[in-house]
This record gives sequence, structure tokens and C-alpha cells, in this order.
Amino acid sequence: MWMREMKPNPSPAFLSLFLVASIMCCYVADCYDPLDPNGNITITYDIQTWTTRGYVGRVTIQNYYQFRHVENPGWKLAWTWTRGEVIWSMNGAFATEQGNCSLFKFDIPHSCEERPVILDLMPEASLGNRSEGCCRSGVLSAWAVDRSKSFSSFEISVGSKDEDGNELPPANITLMAPGPGYTCSPFLDSHPTVSSVIDGKREVQVFRTWKSTCTYSIFVDNKTPVCCVSLSAFYNPSITPCPSCSCGCRKANKSSVQCTRDEYQLSSSDSATNLSSVRCSDHMCPVRVHWHVETNYINHWRVKLTVSNYNYNRNYSNWNILVQHPGFGQSTEAFSFNSSQLPSLRYGDELALFWGIENFNTELVQSTESNMGYVTTDILFEKDLESFTLSNGWALPRRVYFNGDNCHMPLPDTFPMLPNGNTKQSLSLYLFILLFFFDLFVLVKV
Ligand SMILES: *[C@@H]1O[C@H](CO)[C@@H](O)[C@H](O)[C@H]1NC(C)=O
Ligand SMILES: *[C@@H]1O[C@H](CO)[C@@H](O)[C@H](O)[C@H]1NC(C)=O
Ligand SMILES: *[C@@H]1O[C@H](CO)[C@@H](O)[C@H](O)[C@H]1NC(C)=O
Ligand SMILES: *[C@@H]1O[C@H](CO)[C@@H](O)[C@H](O)[C@H]1NC(C)=O
Ligand SMILES: *[C@@H]1O[C@H](CO)[C@@H](O)[C@H](O)[C@H]1NC(C)=O
Ligand SMILES: *[C@@H]1O[C@H](CO)[C@@H](O)[C@H](O)[C@H]1NC(C)=O
Ligand SMILES: *[C@@H]1O[C@H](CO)[C@@H](O)[C@H](O)[C@H]1NC(C)=O
Ligand SMILES: *[C@@H]1O[C@H](CO)[C@@H](O)[C@H](O)[C@H]1NC(C)=O
Repeated sequence: MWMREMKPNPSPAFLSLFLVASIMCCYVADCYDPLDPNGNITITYDIQTWTTRGYVGRVTIQNYYQFRHVENPGWKLAWTWTRGEVIWSMNGAFATEQGNCSLFKFDIPHSCEERPVILDLMPEASLGNRSEGCCRSGVLSAWAVDRSKSFSSFEISVGSKDEDGNELPPANITLMAPGPGYTCSPFLDSHPTVSSVIDGKREVQVFRTWKSTCTYSIFVDNKTPVCCVSLSAFYNPSITPCPSCSCGCRKANKSSVQCTRDEYQLSSSDSATNLSSVRCSDHMCPVRVHWHVETNYINHWRVKLTVSNYNYNRNYSNWNILVQHPGFGQSTEAFSFNSSQLPSLRYGDELALFWGIENFNTELVQSTESNMGYVTTDILFEKDLESFTLSNGWALPRRVYFNGDNCHMPLPDTFPMLPNGNTKQSLSLYLFILLFFFDLFVLVKV
């Protein structure tokens, strides 16, 4: 009996410290995403043909991130020409500035900028300005959601003084997609891109291919967190709310309903709409994910997953939610979302990705004074009787991501508890907490 008294109680403050330490450690290592270790955006620059005054190239921006998409206002690509090249013309995209073309008397180039900034065309661009795989206003789907819309491609006719074909790739590539979170490698020589013609019976290849890989870092993006998780279960009447100050602290007084968040502006042209206005809450997150363990059947169990948008001026088109939970190892059914299983690091860390159903709930609309914008689904899990348990928060998610961003989880010691919590249970809770942090630690080190 006395041992129970001796057992130290990890205070929430201690746990928070631990969590902060883990996150700091992540920052120092400039962590890539452990749940999508190969994710990147690859920029491929193909030289297709030589011309009398330079060459014609094709640039393809391919999003290989499984669950991070490029949303409105879309990507913005920039590079520096190293040998005074000019852009004669472009199809499927355009340079934002023409620059100083005063050296050209008759034929005027599309852009003479030394560092052109390139944007995608709008979907309604005229036929003459299009190219294959263009014109989605810079929006790229996540790879696991819709591969056919995960890339952008445009044609570029480049004027170059070089006549022996020893072209050099442009330097200092930057990709805003749409924020500043991406870091791109220099263009490196790569195997020429091959494509098949004549119904796949003949393969042709381009003259030269350069590739650059861009990776996302939340540290570089330097944005305020956007998302948190709240939890509840049928066996406990109390709801575990999002940790307070998950995405910033509430500055307005308690009686006001509209709060302002400090956020970077997505684009200067967007300044007409005020993106930082959200419904006031203790967590101040623009997005809240709620996981409710609804029912426990004999062979199945059911969860209600709800994603709420606290923004007053912002809709999320083609949103996605990633959930890590061992229950996804069994067959599951989501009733109102589209879903897919993603490869997981190891057994027990199964990942499922959810997104909206076309013409039904792909748009997570903004909130108004009277209505909360949300999307919701029931998920039915098949029960693995070996591992299924309601104790120690097993039925709750391990990690949740919204649009590629990690959502702030409540600490395990605040999870909804089974009634009659006894010593055995709190002991296992310690184990769980230990495992939880060990897990974090291991993932950070990977
Ligand atoms: C980028 O992602 C693709 C697809 O996952 C992968 O094949 C490639 O190796 C990645 N590139 C780098 C440099 O990691
Ligand atoms: C434009 O370029 C020409 C030739 O390089 C140069 O002489 C002229 O000063 C430039 N004009 C401006 C406004 O920079
Ligand atoms: C589109 O094409 C028209 C003529 O075909 C041209 O005048 C216009 O500049 C082009 N727009 C862009 C953005 O390239
Ligand atoms: C690329 O950027 C670096 C640092 O900003 C600069 O030192 C270098 O001169 C740039 N290279 C070119 C070709 O502009
Ligand atoms: C809180 O704000 C409301 C309206 O914005 C105001 O009427 C009220 O006096 C404020 N309360 C405090 C304690 O500042
Ligand atoms: C957004 O609204 C807040 C308060 O409602 C205001 O302080 C801020 O200046 C606005 N920002 C823009 C870009 O309009
Ligand atoms: C969000 O969607 C709603 C409903 O479709 C629309 O009324 C509203 O204008 C949209 N808001 C923004 C910022 O686009
Ligand atoms: C689910 O998503 C895939 C890929 O985006 C799509 O092809 C399919 O039609 C979607 N199913 C529903 C029911 O929306």
C-alpha cells in the first residue's frame, strides 16, 4: 500500500516542459516530417529542343507530399539566370514582370528580368496560352489525395547567347507554396526525362534534364500553429478540450466573440480579406479536430470525427486530415469522407488519410456569428479483440494532422478516463505516457 503513496505524480507542468523540450529538439534538428519521410516537391527542368536563338524547355512542379497540398493563392517560382538569358515566350504560366527589354528592337521577349517570378495561369486561360498540365492557378493536390492534380507543368522558350548547347541551369530557386516554408536544392543534372509515344511502343527522351528538390520545414515557414485536437468518449461525460493557448493566447476579453490572430499574410493581393479573424476560444486555433469515441459494439467500435473551422474569413478547399491510430490496422469504413490508408513506419502506427467527397464536403466553410463551419463523419472500426481496449486512452488518436500541419494534442493525463479509475489504470497511464514520449523521441531522432 505504501508504494502507491510514494509514487511520484507527474504534474502537468512537468509534462508540458517535457513536450516543449521534445519540440525544441525537433526544431534544432530541423525535422522533416517523420510521417512522410520522402515527401518533397520536385522541380524538373527539361530542355526539349534547341532553337536558333536558344531552346524550348518544359518545367514541371510535382508535389510528392502525401498529405501536404499547395493551396490558394498557389505556388510562386523564382530563379536567377546565370548568363543573361531572356524568356521569349511562355505557355501554361507567366512571368510577373517584363523587366528592361530595351535592347530588343523588333521581337520583344516575354521577360528580360534577371530573376523572373513565375505564376501559374488561371483555369480559364485562353487555349493559345495553355500547355499540357497547366492552369490550375498554382494549386496542387496532395499525392495521396489526387495524383492527377498533384503537378503543374509549363513551357518556356529561352533566349540564350550560348551556341554550343552548354546551357547552365538557373540558380537560386525559390518556391513559395504559397508561404515561405520551402527550401530548394540547386538544379542538378539528372537522367533525361523519357516519355512514350505511338501508344507506348516508342520511347523518346529530352536533350537534358535538371532537377531541384524542395522540402518543407515548419521552422522555415515560421507560421503560427493552425490546429488542435479535443477528445471525448461515451464512457466519460467530460470533454477534454484543446490545450489552452495551443495556437496563441486569447487577448480579447472573455465577452468578445471575434478575435485576431497574428499570422503572416498569404499574399499581398489578398489583403482585402482579413484572414486573421477567428472565433474567440481558449485555444485560438483556426481549426479544431474533435475525436469522439461513440459506441462500443461486440465486433466493431465507432468514432465521430469532426473538423471545425473557426475562421471568419477563410474556407479550406480540398482539406485533408491524417490520423495515426492502431485501429486503422483493421478494416475501417468512413461514412462521409473519402479515405485511404497510408504506409506507416511500423506496426501499431497505422495512418489513415481523410478528405472530402466531391460535391458534398470538399469545402470546409468559414464560421459566421451564428454558425460554425464544420465537416464530420462517423468511422466504423473492425475490432481486433487482441488489442482493443477502452482503457488508457487506447481508442484516442496518437497524432492528427490538418493539411499537413501537426495538430496540438491534449496531454495524456487529461484524456477522458474510464469510470472507477484505479491504481492499475494510472500505472498503465504512466507506461503510456512514457511510450508516448519515447515515440516522439525516436521519431525525432530518425
Ligand atoms: C522526392 O520524392 C520522390 C517520391 O517520393 C522520391 O522518389 C525522391 O527520391 C525524393 N527526392 C529526394 C531528393 O528525396
Ligand atoms: C535598360 O537596359 C539598358 C541596357 O542594358 C540600360 O542601358 C538602361 O539603362 C536600362 N534602363 C533602366 C531603366 O534600367
Ligand atoms: C495570352 O495570349 C495572348 C495572345 O495569344 C497574349 O496577348 C497574352 O499576352 C497571353 N497572356 C499571357 C498571360 O501569356
Ligand atoms: C544566389 O544567392 C546567393 C545568396 O543570396 C548569392 O550570394 C549568389 O550570388 C546568388 N547567385 C546568383 C547566380 O545570383
Ligand atoms: C469586454 O468587451 C466588451 C465589448 O467589446 C465591453 O463592453 C466590456 O466592457 C469589456 N469588458 C472588460 C472587462 O474589459
Ligand atoms: C484585420 O482585422 C483586425 C481587427 O479586426 C485589424 O486589427 C487588422 O488591422 C486587420 N488586418 C487587415 C490586413 O485588414
Ligand atoms: C466561403 O464559402 C462560403 C459558402 O460557399 C461563401 O459564402 C464565402 O464567401 C466563402 N468565403 C471566402 C473567404 O471565400
Ligand atoms: C475519392 O477520392 C478519389 C481521388 O481523389 C476520387 O477519384 C474518388 O472519386 C473519390 N470518391 C468519392 C466518393 O468522392
